[in-house]
Amino acid sequence: MEKYIINGGRPLFGEVAVSGAKNAALPILAATILSDGECRIENIPEIRDVSLMIEILYKMGAEVRTIDRTTVEIESSRIYTTASPNDICRRLRGSYYLLGAMLGKYGKVEVEMPGGCNFGVRPIDLHIKGLEALGAVINIENGIIKAEVPDGLKGATVYLDKASVGATINIMLAAVRAEGTTMIENAAREPHIVDLANFLNSMGASVRGAGTDTIKIKGVSSLIGVTYSIIPDQIEAGTFMIAAAITGGDVTVSNIIPKHMESLTSKLIEAGMEVTELDEAIRVVGKRPISKLKVTAIYYPGFPTYLQPQITAMLSLAEGTSIVTESVWENRFRYTEELKKMGADISVEGRVATVKGVPSLHGASVTACDLRAGAAVILAGLAAEGVTEIDNIMLVERGYEDIVGKLRSLGAEISKESFNEPAI
Ligand code: EPU
Repeated sequence: MEKYIINGGRPLFGEVAVSGAKNAALPILAATILSDGECRIENIPEIRDVSLMIEILYKMGAEVRTIDRTTVEIESSRIYTTASPNDICRRLRGSYYLLGAMLGKYGKVEVEMPGGCNFGVRPIDLHIKGLEALGAVINIENGIIKAEVPDGLKGATVYLDKASVGATINIMLAAVRAEGTTMIENAAREPHIVDLANFLNSMGASVRGAGTDTIKIKGVSSLIGVTYSIIPDQIEAGTFMIAAAITGGDVTVSNIIPKHMESLTSKLIEAGMEVTELDEAIRVVGKRPISKLKVTAIYYPGFPTYLQPQITAMLSLAEGTSIVTESVWENRFRYTEELKKMGADISVEGRVATVKGVPSLHGASVTACDLRAGAAVILAGLAAEGVTEIDNIMLVERGYEDIVGKLRSLGAEISKESFNEPAI
């Protein structure tokens, strides 16, 4: 069993470079299936979810060459099976992108129901509704999604009841090689949707309107192999920005697109922090006191749900009472129980957390409940007095590249240690 051990109370100083975006890398890797040639993907983050996605492609027959730590070449035209490796797919939410990509290219696929972080029910009804509108026939048997397109994919208009990132992506993947035009209405607008559209268009697809709530896709019959570099990870960037704020440090977060960070930047300024936008970087100087905030986690360009746990950790040290509302997920406050073990004063009712600021947090033994919840307890541990031990850290490593090394380079006292499992 591995744990992070943090000796907190040290402000972070220096510069940290952000890696490629997990939530762009996963669909883009899946989208290489749609190409008739070889794709070279650059700036991929070195994280567990990405390794799993590459392993899935490899096990289905794709030729995969690792060029260096952040670059991979994939020739997916060698794929020889439409059955994906269940043991890996069930460990990864993004494995559901095989649905759209495989239907688009091969017209058939079998995928295990996807895994991923547990923050309430995570249905895939909108993915299924969208793919069915394009002509797919989908059955779920014993946890395996079996999909095929008996009469070929045909463009259609799909209205999404919720602006789901995953459903928008899956429909885009299938539609780029469908016959005719597809319109996705109430589409998700996250930066990784735009990144996927740019990748597909560079291969010869016709995707217009990504980044707005209406995406129009004209199907094409073939797509070429290309070289493409993935955008920086806005969630990793945001996590380091909040790390500077919560520790009262001075950190420049580089290799980012500042525009993607606007909702967080404005909240940090409202909380009293000094935030300077540079060319491809943002500098955050943590000031005291931290002012209370009202934060509503919502779809992009609103405040991201995947930074909600981290900002709540910061607000636990604010002056006054903050209100944090989660409007995307039903059950994304489980981590507040962990923050309470460190002295935070938080009460949760439904989708609203009331965070009464306390003067200080103290170290404790806590758990990473999911990827971003893990980031929240790390941030709290960095600011707390004394030693914090965090277990279940493989969930953190699903999405943060070398978080220990990066935090240490900013002066944090954090290490990863192995412990023997206690005998039962
Ligand atoms: N939803 C449905 N039906 C569906 C799909 C989604 O009702 O078929 C609902 C969900 O229950 C939720 C909302 O729609 O209430 C949004 O879900 P979405 O599909 O956008 O989430 P996702 O695709 O499962 C992606 C990210 C998440 C991020 C969310 C929200 C990827 C691989 N994952 O998840 O990332 O939190 O969008 O933006 O892009 C993370 O990185 O920490 C993470 C979990």
